[in-house]
Amino acid sequence: MPLPRRIVLVGPMGAGKSTIGRQLARELGYHFLDSDRMIEERCGADIPWIFDVEGEEGFRQRESAMLKELAEVGASVLATGGGAVMKAENHPFLKQDAVVVYLKASLDQQIERTRKDRNRPLLQNDDPEGVLRRLFELRDPIYTSLADVVMLTDRKSPRLVVRQILNRLNPRTPRQRRKVRKEGRHHD
Ligand code: S3P
Repeated sequence: MPLPRRIVLVGPMGAGKSTIGRQLARELGYHFLDSDRMIEERCGADIPWIFDVEGEEGFRQRESAMLKELAEVGASVLATGGGAVMKAENHPFLKQDAVVVYLKASLDQQIERTRKDRNRPLLQNDDPEGVLRRLFELRDPIYTSLADVVMLTDRKSPRLVVRQILNRLNPRTPRQRRKVRKEGRHHD
């Protein structure tokens, strides 16, 4: 397939969207956009503060506005927050000119990778594992239905996941990709 204008990463907390997205963008010579970090910059406060003061719904409104804005940025890899798929009104902005990649992680991996986290308000309670399980049951079908590509990330390095995504998107060799990038073309 020709290289898409945008690659949008969806998936649960702890799937590696930011790390993988940054490396994928670097490989492609695309901008890397991280919707959570951009919401924080715009707001001048971190996500726990936004949840605290404005509630989850306040955060979701900011998230929807940000996803709409970022849908217009070409040649980009976008890492979304785990809940970005929950509002149907966000779906057209996630899909716009994009290949949507679902970074899928088992519950065990999600638990492992978020264990020491203090920056995710939904997990700051007595039963973060139960929350992750319930969110996974609710969201997995939505991630799957939105995705053009489903990529399992368990026990894989970010580097390997990036390579596998590139193979799925565009089965060209790295050398050919560099040539295309140099010439500023994104299509065959
Ligand atoms: C959320 C995931 C977080 C962040 C917020 C809510 C969620 O992003 O948007 O804490 O609802 O799953 P990550 O998936 O990058 O952790």
